[in-house]
Amino acid sequence: MRILVLNGPNLNMLGVREPAIYGRQSYPDLERYICTAARELGVEYDMRQSNYEGELVSWIQEAYGIYDGIVINPAAYTHTSIAILDALKSVCIPAVEVHLSDPMQREEFRRISFPGMACCKTVAGKGFDGYREAMAFLMMRNIEMRMKQQ
Ligand code: DQA
Repeated sequence: MRILVLNGPNLNMLGVREPAIYGRQSYPDLERYICTAARELGVEYDMRQSNYEGELVSWIQEAYGIYDGIVINPAAYTHTSIAILDALKSVCIPAVEVHLSDPMQREEFRRISFPGMACCKTVAGKGFDGYREAMAFLMMRNIEMRMKQQ
């Protein structure tokens, strides 16, 4: 099982950026957290971050035929990006949307998620643990799908 973990703009600023909302842990801390979680779950993963919408779109396209699942925190592109929504729909790879905070409890403009419309699950407001929950969900889903195919 191979999972692609994608993070959108400004998530590289974790630890510096609005710590009251996103916490004091840094992006390298998140990388370490995900490495440990993936090892415990027994999944292979790659993790990438970009501040550019097109780069995220390209990485989703390139995931076709390579990854069995996508965990994506599109960050601010959550609320604007039909391009990311279309890319997720194009590749048809099961995807889970993750947010460190809970956008539904924040400003009105954060209440819509375009990429979320192509995801089978959303995990929000659980900090780093949301990524682990997303990977575990994709792993279970993958096992269930394979059992059905037998
Ligand atoms: C975020 C929530 C978004 O609204 C925001 O633009 C982000 C981070 C989160 O992880 O809570 O950049 O996706």
